[in-house]
Amino acid sequence: MSLDTYLLESQAAHLDELKALLRIPSVSTNDAFKADVAACAEFVCGKLRDAGLTAKVYATPKHPIVYGEWLGAPGAPTVLIYGHYDVQPPEPLELWRNPPFEPTIEGGNIVARGATDDKGQMFAHVKAVESLMKTHGKLPVNVKFLIEGEEEVGSPSLDPFIEAHADMLKADVVVVSDTHMYAPGRPSITYGLRGLSYFEMTVRGPSYDLHSGLYGGAVPNPINAIGTMIGKLKDENNRVLIPGFYDGVQELDADERAELNALEYDSAAFCGEVGIPHPVGEKGYGIVERLTVRPTLDFNGIWGGYTGPGAKTVLPSEAHAKFSCRLVPAQDPEDIVRKVVAYLESIKPDGVQLEVRPHHGNIPFVVDRSAPAMKAAFRALERVWGVRPVFTRGGGSIPVVASFKRLLGLDTVLMGFGLEDDRLHSPNEKFAIANYYAGIKASAFMLQELAAEG
Ligand code: BES
Ligand code: MN
Ligand code: MN
Repeated sequence: MSLDTYLLESQAAHLDELKALLRIPSVSTNDAFKADVAACAEFVCGKLRDAGLTAKVYATPKHPIVYGEWLGAPGAPTVLIYGHYDVQPPEPLELWRNPPFEPTIEGGNIVARGATDDKGQMFAHVKAVESLMKTHGKLPVNVKFLIEGEEEVGSPSLDPFIEAHADMLKADVVVVSDTHMYAPGRPSITYGLRGLSYFEMTVRGPSYDLHSGLYGGAVPNPINAIGTMIGKLKDENNRVLIPGFYDGVQELDADERAELNALEYDSAAFCGEVGIPHPVGEKGYGIVERLTVRPTLDFNGIWGGYTGPGAKTVLPSEAHAKFSCRLVPAQDPEDIVRKVVAYLESIKPDGVQLEVRPHHGNIPFVVDRSAPAMKAAFRALERVWGVRPVFTRGGGSIPVVASFKRLLGLDTVLMGFGLEDDRLHSPNEKFAIANYYAGIKASAFMLQELAAEG
């Protein structure tokens, strides 16, 4: 049977299998789901075996890593396909139209937590390999799969695993589908991603919550203090005021800048989708630049004092916040941590104590667009969608991509099948079923094109 016929005839089965994968609540950040995460690793491992690979689940200090391989093409290149089977927490649950782990078909989309990030995209590669094996009895290149369960918590176990298994993971190139297409019908190759520095802070004032009438006016207020500090983090042009924050930030050359800004970006659709009147951001940069090649500083959560129903006249003893910076080449996450902590100490209001705790971080990167694997991906995407793919840079982070370079010397091709409005990390996350099928095809074509590229 031809690959095309097999892919068409298998669509219903491929969708059912994806639904089964989406039913497993593999939330990596919450220990209550530890057994589900482990079950998900076993599920993925079983699917790799069904596809004709040898596969194994490796325990780690946190969540298991799934590795599978088929090395029956001596002399041909070896592709390392990376993905993650863990997902973000589904909360707030009340905003989902259907329960997050009961995948539902709505229009042309499959809606569930993890649909696009990253189960659907990752699984497209598994189904591509299965389809090639079933129709050709072999693969055009050697294939290794590395599917982890900790991506959404910063991949703490992955670097040690890569270091310990560097021989096993030897390859010529890494392929990852965990980003998005430029627009529906416009496939793209993402050639850079932002890095991240993530922080929590606690501000302490009086030793217990106080009556705001009896004490208000003479006692430092930790919530006010956080507000005061936030007010000093950016200027009126949305430039970050932390000394040295922009050190090393590479300004794009005129060509790349023009190329990025020439992408017709539907700013109205962007605003409509997220419900804002107009985009805001760093003065002097276009929306695509703000979203992908400029660094950011944003608060992710803030709490303290009384937040229950009704009013309570109280001065809080403590206030807390989570915040993060998206980083661009060549900012260094650890250097940013030092600068952020020093600046916050310097602007801390009188009378409160400040504690800043850095979390995970990862380095930003750009990859060389002229690599042979890039050309193979380009042709594969063009064959599937019938239009020339666009080169873009992404605003999010995939920590392991920098590790592949640093630890294995490997470049990564990011070919995403998601869409920007897939609501990843949000309620009602979705994945276009057509993109799932197209992704399976693109993955199979990519393996063929890589064999041709040699
Ligand atoms: N798949 C995303 C990253 C992404 C999505 C990049 C779309 C570009 C376009 C990934 O799962 C993710 O959410 N990464 C986290 C990293 C963090 C938890 C270390 C992120 O970017 O916040
Ligand atoms: Mn992801
Ligand atoms: Mn994610």
